[in-house]
Amino acid sequence: MPVVADAPTLKLVRTDPEEPIRRPAAAPRRRTRRVISVGGGKGGIGKSLISANLGIELARRGKRVVLVDADLGGANLHTTLGIDLPRRTLSDFIERKVQRIEDVVTPTGIEDLGLVSGALDHLDAANPKYAQKMRFLRHVQQMDVDYAILDLGAGTHANVLDFFLVSDHGVLVLVPEPTAVENAYRFVKAAFWRRMRNVASVYGYDPLLRSVMEGGTFKSPVELVATISERDPDAGRNLARHLALFRPRLIVNQARTPQDADIGAAVVTAWRKYFGLEMDFLGTISYDDDMWRAVRARRPLLMERPDVPAARSFAAIADSLLALDLTAKTGVGA
Ligand SMILES: Nc1ncnc2c1ncn2[C@@H]1O[C@H](COP(=O)(O)OP(=O)(O)OP(=O)(O)O)[C@@H](O)[C@H]1O
Ligand SMILES: [Mg+2]
Repeated sequence: MPVVADAPTLKLVRTDPEEPIRRPAAAPRRRTRRVISVGGGKGGIGKSLISANLGIELARRGKRVVLVDADLGGANLHTTLGIDLPRRTLSDFIERKVQRIEDVVTPTGIEDLGLVSGALDHLDAANPKYAQKMRFLRHVQQMDVDYAILDLGAGTHANVLDFFLVSDHGVLVLVPEPTAVENAYRFVKAAFWRRMRNVASVYGYDPLLRSVMEGGTFKSPVELVATISERDPDAGRNLARHLALFRPRLIVNQARTPQDADIGAAVVTAWRKYFGLEMDFLGTISYDDDMWRAVRARRPLLMERPDVPAARSFAAIADSLLALDLTAKTGVGA
């Protein structure tokens, strides 16, 4: 199965089924300290607002941050930041009108915060070819910044999952409503299985994985790996190691009641119990009228109303992220 292994961190990105396996001769030089991607399956849950405000919070702490509007086809991060669509966008980079992704970084008016604006109405950019996608991800990882934050689109399209899987911090946004919770689980499960298949491809476990999966249904990845271990203990050990590395970060947004605030811990517990995997809870953002008012005013909340509770929760979320960086806990793509 076609896969690129991006040594030495072994970032695995699966490609279209027709694509041949390609392994770069040498690992690209990596400069971006951390890639954060913000996803969650459902539309309208606050992914873009969280990307923008988290970016502002990190920039205020002296980190060099670039926000990347990776919502291919639905780009609007520039509006969230209150700036007009820049002259140069991701389209120019994807269509090779410029050579480096840095060439499409626009200042946001906030110190240390740049923006790569999304691709608007360009078929190529909305559905990039494999090589275009890989070039984009490689350039994101090589930007000379502390944090690149990818604002992802809704859904579980392969591109969205691959952007999520390439990050150090794959942030799952969840709002406390049954449909949104369902979508969040669907999204994170799809990302997990994509990563599992990528790992299986790289190590040549495809036939083994296929035959085990055809042989029965599995309640959890842990159960699946146990069955693989019975057939091939080395493969089982290796897959278990990669499985433990998949650790999404969770943000609960639009919490309205005290019970909503408990959902984060409950989701982490359920994920562990039913899926056998870990997840790091970053924090809760309350539902706040100031949030949508800020959107209407085309001003980020952290600039418009830095003292409201929703704005202050970004400080707590940034604290949690920075703490994870210090303890070097692996993320979804490590
Ligand atoms: N904490 C909050 N309090 C109040 N309103 C919120 C909050 N978070 C998000 N919203 C509302 O949700 C709307 C959608 O937010 P946003 O555009 O960030 O979602 P999204 O997940 O990026 O959507 P899409 O998938 O369409 O890109 C905002 O315009 C705002 O009105
Ligand atoms: Mg969005």
